[in-house]
Order: sequence, then structure tokens, then C-alpha cells
Amino acid sequence: MRQRTKIKSLLQSAETGFETTVKGWVRTFRNNQFIALNDGSTNLNLQIVVDFENTDPAILKSITTGAAISVTGQVVASLGKGQKVELKAASIEILGDSDPEKYPLQPKKHSLEFLREIAHLRFRTNTFGAVFRVRNTLAFAVHQFFQERGFVYLNTPIITASDAEGAGETFHVTNFDLNNVPKTAEGEIDFTADFFGKATNLTVSGQLEGELGAMALSDIYTFGPTFRAENSNTTRHLAEFWMIEPEMAFYNLDDNADLAEELLKQVIKEALEKNTDDLEFLAQRLAEEEKQKPQQERSEMTLLEKLQFCLDNDFERLTYTEAIEILKNSSQNKKKKFTYLIEGWGADLQSEHERYLVEKHFKKPVILTDYPAAIKAFYMRQNEPDAEGRKTVRAMDILFPGIGEMVGGSQREERLDKLEQRMDEMNIPKEELDWYLDTRRFGACEHAGFGLGFERLVQFVTGMGNIRDVIPFPRFPKNAAF
Ligand code: 4AD
Ligand code: MG
Repeated sequence: MRQRTKIKSLLQSAETGFETTVKGWVRTFRNNQFIALNDGSTNLNLQIVVDFENTDPAILKSITTGAAISVTGQVVASLGKGQKVELKAASIEILGDSDPEKYPLQPKKHSLEFLREIAHLRFRTNTFGAVFRVRNTLAFAVHQFFQERGFVYLNTPIITASDAEGAGETFHVTNFDLNNVPKTAEGEIDFTADFFGKATNLTVSGQLEGELGAMALSDIYTFGPTFRAENSNTTRHLAEFWMIEPEMAFYNLDDNADLAEELLKQVIKEALEKNTDDLEFLAQRLAEEEKQKPQQERSEMTLLEKLQFCLDNDFERLTYTEAIEILKNSSQNKKKKFTYLIEGWGADLQSEHERYLVEKHFKKPVILTDYPAAIKAFYMRQNEPDAEGRKTVRAMDILFPGIGEMVGGSQREERLDKLEQRMDEMNIPKEELDWYLDTRRFGACEHAGFGLGFERLVQFVTGMGNIRDVIPFPRFPKNAAF
């Protein structure tokens, strides 16, 4: 088996005068002479020049869009415009035919919605090739960021009996025969007869288990799939998404916010450096998409400018209470242009409010802290009530232009009595979380962490409008195809 060269490295080095083999999929074949070959290493195609007079007509006939081929020949300087080098084919082998009548992808622009229905083939388009190469860079950069800082990569369970966020949006895990579910004498489902002997679900967050790791290893992070049965058909929600959850002992909320800002900046920088071509392509794509929008809805910056802007500026930090004042006094609110008007303190922020803050008011990423206790999870550290007796917790959400909430995190409540009191108030069964409460019994300390929604990060960096287009096989209400 002869070694093949990846198209990216051939085009990058632009060396000529040697023989090599390339393998890939045909994008187009024109004039029986020029093949545009792509192998997924880059969006750029390698031009292959075919000596059609001396090539078997059966082979020529099989060089169709989508076919997998292997080509051996000389790398030569290209006379055509658009590429420095091309391959002069000496031999062509058809590895896999593709019937041009049936191949769903044509060399033209397809809608993202159409491509979602053929997710097994959309990888072969320029847009999705670029998106998934950027996603890959970001994932690796996340690991690199934490590894450089001595964090331990910890795998938390996917099947669990806890609902960390307490939102009840879990998918059940069972091996009951659903037509014949065992019942107790009281007529309730008898989970003691189920596989795990108790009710279990897919994880909504690895945080609680992550905290146990941090209470021994100091700094840990998870990076795994997360499942939420929220029935939200939005461009920002998936039923299966990937989350990065670092958890750090001896960190307070400011340390937490610093780490999150550094992480976001470093991984965006990596993508800008490693995926320049892909991001330029995606920027161009976005610019064309924006042209369809009315002037006032168009973004003031190009995708690349947005990413650079994010690196060059400190994220704005303010409290929920300060944000409410800004929102309440905004002309948007006064003119009743919000769907949910801000009447006063205590309300949860809707995405329209988050986007107003980042896109209109501050025009940059914002870190909002100290939310009302009533709208946040039980594990967040409680602040002393303010002069007006309002209760807040040391929560932090990081909001991004075009995305809204990218990160959710907090300093954790390390005081056992305060934590238990909050669990009682929120009807969270303490017996079931006894293992978690042990972290507050034996060597509890200040600690903090956050969750970064990986697809929302990929969305921001690639400029894709719909989160379903940044994950290889999206899962959302009424869709689990492939
Ligand atoms: O704000 P969330 O719910 O926070 C937690 O789960 C905490 N336990 C994290 C922690 O402190 N360790 O979720 C964190 C992030 C959100 O900010 C968002 O980016 C993303 O996860 N996210 C989703 N992404 C895609 N689809 C969904 N349905 C998402 N729900 C949350
Ligand atoms: Mg959140």
C-alpha cells in the first residue's frame, strides 16, 4: 500500500517535481480533463489533470461527482489560476462509484435544512467541512488549555440517578418492558425491579461528581455529552450537547470568571491561527447570508472581526442587579419593545434581555454575576442579603453576542448548614445526595466551577446561525435520525 499525501499539505508546501498518490472524493469533473478532488483535509480542491486520450473510457465514465478515487502522478506547477500546484495523473483508480443520477449533493449551493436531512453526506460540503474542522480545533484547544494548567480530565457518569440542575428535564434510562412495567402495591412504578434498582436518567451535568474530584485533585474538568429533554425548538438548544465543566478547589467567583475568560480567548485564538482558511470561508458565507437581511439587522463586524474583537477586549463584568437597572431604563423597555418587560428585580432574564446587554448596550461579551437565589440552582454560594433584604447567590453567566448564554457557573456553597437549608427550601432530597454532602463534611473549602456549552462556542466561532449545524448528528425534538 503506497502512502498517500493529504491535499492540504500538497497545496500548502506548493513543492513540485515529485510523484505522489492522493485519494479523495470527486467534486467536479469538467471537459473530461480536470478533476476537482477533495479529501476533507481542507476546503481547497486539488486540480487533477487527466490525459483523457490515453485513459480507459470506462474509468473516465466513472469519474463522477461523489466517487472515491486514487490518483498517482507528478505534482507540477499549475498553469491555471486558483492554485499553485496540480497533479498530472499517470494512473487513476476508481475506489468507489457514485451514481451521478442518485447522488444527493450537486455541485451547487444547498440549503442548510436540506443538508440536515442528509447529515451523513453534509460533511462533504465546504460549509460543513469547515465547521467540523473548526470544531475539532476547539475541542483539542480546550484539552490543551486545561492540560497546560495541570487540570485532571475526569469522566463523570452518563447514567446517573441525580438531576444536578434540578430542572427535571431528564431522559429516563430503563430496561423495563415498557408494555409491562412492574408496579408497587400502591400502583407506582417499582424501580427496585429495574436494571439499577432505582430510577435513573441520562446526565444533565457532570458537576456534582466533578466537585468530588476537585475536593481531592484540586482542579478537574469534564468534557462529555449532556442530555436535556427541554422541549425547546430553538437555534440554541439541543437535546444532546457537549459540555466542558471545570471545577476548582480554592477558587472564588472572580477566579472562576478569570479562568473562563482566559479559556474562551485562548481557544478562539487557536481556531483563528489553525483554521484561517476555514474561518475565512465561513466569514464569506456569513457575509452573503447577511446580505439577505434588512440593513438594521446586519452585523457591524465580519466574523473574523468579531472573533478578534473578543480577544482584544476585556469581558464586561457586572451584577444581575446592575443589569436589571440598565434593562429597566433602556429605551427598548420603555417603548415596550421587549416581549417580556422588565418590571423590577427578581425576574429571570430572557434571551432578548441577554442579547440587548451584549449586542446593543455593551457590544461585547458580558459576565453577569450574583443572580437572585430564587432563579438559580441549590448548590450556589449564598451572599448576605442586601440592604433591601434581597437574596442573591454567587452565580455567573457569560453572555455572548449572537448566542446569549455561553457559560453558566458559580462559586459553590461549601457551608453544610447553608447548603442543607437551601436543599430543604427547594425540596431536594438530602438522602439521595448524601455522597455529595460528604464533600461539605470532610475538608470542605471554597471552590467554584462552570459549564461551557461546546456547541454554543462552535456556533460563535463559525458564525453558524443554528446550533443543529455545528454538531455532526443533531438530536432535537422529533429528530434522532442517523
Ligand atoms: O447553565 P447550565 O445549565 O449549567 C450547568 O449545567 C452547571 N452544572 C454548569 C457548572 O457549573 N458546572 O449549562 C451550562 C451551559 C450553558 O451555559 C449553555 O452554554 C449550555 O451549557 N447548554 C446547552 N447547550 C445546548 N443545548 C442545550 N439544551 C443546553 N443547555 C445548556
Ligand atoms: Mg444556565
